[in-house]
Amino acid sequence: MGTWIATAEAHPNIAFIKYWGNRDHEARLPSNGSLSMNLAALTTRTRVAFRPDLSADRLILQGREVTGPALARVSRVLSLVRAWSGVARYAEVRSENNFPTGAGIASSASAFAALAVAAAAAAGLDLSEQALSRLARWGSGSASRSVPAGFVEWLPGTSDEDSYAVSIAPPEHWDLVDCIALVSTEHKAVGSSQGHRLAESSPYQAVRVADAPRRLALCREAILQRDFEALADIVELDCHMMHAVMQTSTPALLYWEPATVRVMQAVRRWRTREGLPVAYTIDAGPNVHVLCPRAVSEEVQRRLQALPGVQRVLASGPGGAARLLSP
Ligand code: PMV
Repeated sequence: MGTWIATAEAHPNIAFIKYWGNRDHEARLPSNGSLSMNLAALTTRTRVAFRPDLSADRLILQGREVTGPALARVSRVLSLVRAWSGVARYAEVRSENNFPTGAGIASSASAFAALAVAAAAAAGLDLSEQALSRLARWGSGSASRSVPAGFVEWLPGTSDEDSYAVSIAPPEHWDLVDCIALVSTEHKAVGSSQGHRLAESSPYQAVRVADAPRRLALCREAILQRDFEALADIVELDCHMMHAVMQTSTPALLYWEPATVRVMQAVRRWRTREGLPVAYTIDAGPNVHVLCPRAVSEEVQRRLQALPGVQRVLASGPGGAARLLSP
């Protein structure tokens, strides 16, 4: 029997090899494997309480009650927990981010990782890391990668049972910093759940997916060897391949703003002309994640902040696993 209440914390992650497109949209079985780093400085804290007095699930984000599709997505995960545990109660979910919501930083990865860990514990389920990663995946694909620690690979699998993420190196393995150049805080026009459904309409998606094992192997090796040059090459290539698919889908998705391209070009210049170890990657939005070793991160943040159109820079090193907090 569960304690009915539990609280968990999780970090968002930045993908070095991107997840884009699903083989099964409902279960979020991805078209390709992906690889990411958790972001220690950014945290979502979520409390789940299964209560006998509720007649439906409730979701309170940053102190505000939320209904509609966001609540339905949370209920989907809670219903799996109910089915697995036999708990019949509805839940109240309260979730807070320590980073500005609407600042253009995706919070679905940390949100669903924290939800999976808290909901399972509140229902009295003692799940393995793999099972928690699978559970988080039903809410958001990238959330499966926010369950294990540090540098994480999501094995695409062939079914619900074998599609989960594993840690390939702990956070202490490599002190990389993600300097996030925020160029827009507007809500994105097409979110990733919708975007994944468009991937197949691009003639480039099949090529991108077929080549994914090669890029994953290069990225995994670069991380294990702490080879920044190799990492920079593969991360930027993979980012361009995903955005090529986005930009050639029907309808086409163009997430970049003029300032996005300015940051990309500056980072390229700093690396190729000045030898500064920096590389960029971009998700389904206009902000640019600039990766570098800790030794140059202050310098990189200073330079990014000085570029026209960059409103703010957030920085984070590698983060740990999603974890249960004492109630
Ligand atoms: O987990 P979702 O559905 O929010 O998709 C994430 C998609 C990207 O951020 C663009 C890539 C990734 O692997 O994180």
